[in-house]
Amino acid sequence: MSQDRWTAVERYFGDLLFPPDPALDAALADSVAAGLPPINVSAAQGRLLALVAQMIEARRILEIGTLGGYSTIWLARALAAGGRIVTLEIDARHADVARRNFERAAVSDRIDLRVGPAQETLPAIQAEGVGPFDLIFVDADKPSYPEYLEWSIRLSRPGGVIIVDNIVRDGAVVDEHTADARVQGVRRFNAALAVERRVTATAIQLVGAKGYDGFAVMIVKSTDA
Ligand code: SAH
Ligand code: DHB
Ligand code: MG
Repeated sequence: MSQDRWTAVERYFGDLLFPPDPALDAALADSVAAGLPPINVSAAQGRLLALVAQMIEARRILEIGTLGGYSTIWLARALAAGGRIVTLEIDARHADVARRNFERAAVSDRIDLRVGPAQETLPAIQAEGVGPFDLIFVDADKPSYPEYLEWSIRLSRPGGVIIVDNIVRDGAVVDEHTADARVQGVRRFNAALAVERRVTATAIQLVGAKGYDGFAVMIVKSTDA
């Protein structure tokens, strides 16, 4: 019971629940054509992000890690009326692809795409008072995940939701001696989460066509340091 079966089941639910979507499909096709790595969330995960946004009627969303904007489009479409999403991307090439994908999906007016290291754009967002955010999706460089946890809590509203991708990494997360800096980053994030009193969190293991990984999902009880 592993990869072949997970792929078959993802296709099964894809056929049932995710009919062709021209803007999303083209966003992925253009991302591949531009040489971006195929590390976007799946349709099922994008729908889950969108459902959470709708459940909490999110009007302010922050995303760390845009890539070609696939997850951004899912979230942007789920915004409550008048809502906006700020999405952060370090790579100008990725951002260019994302911008075209946002235009095609007709969501550009709801998206504030900021190009640069999140280590610089996050403080700028705080200084400008752009937040606080109802929903934050963390999906960028894994070694920085502990910092992104701190920033996400700081920029969240009390009661806000934070979702973090890639916290399982094919199960490598249980290997305390791993030499992979990305897995180490995720482990430091998970350890920080364990002692973080400002949030209530859970960890969800996920499987699908692209393997075995997971989401951390949390609610921010308090934003006080
Ligand atoms: N959320 C996207 C996938 C993001 S992949 C989706 O599901 O469609 C991770 C992205 O984070 C990559 O585009 C990478 O360039 C970007 N990234 C890596 N380090 C970063 C940093 N320090 N600041 C901002 N973005 C970063
Ligand atoms: C990688 C990054 C991701 O955000 C993801 O969802 C899958 C893989 C990576 O860097 O390999
Ligand atoms: Mg990811």
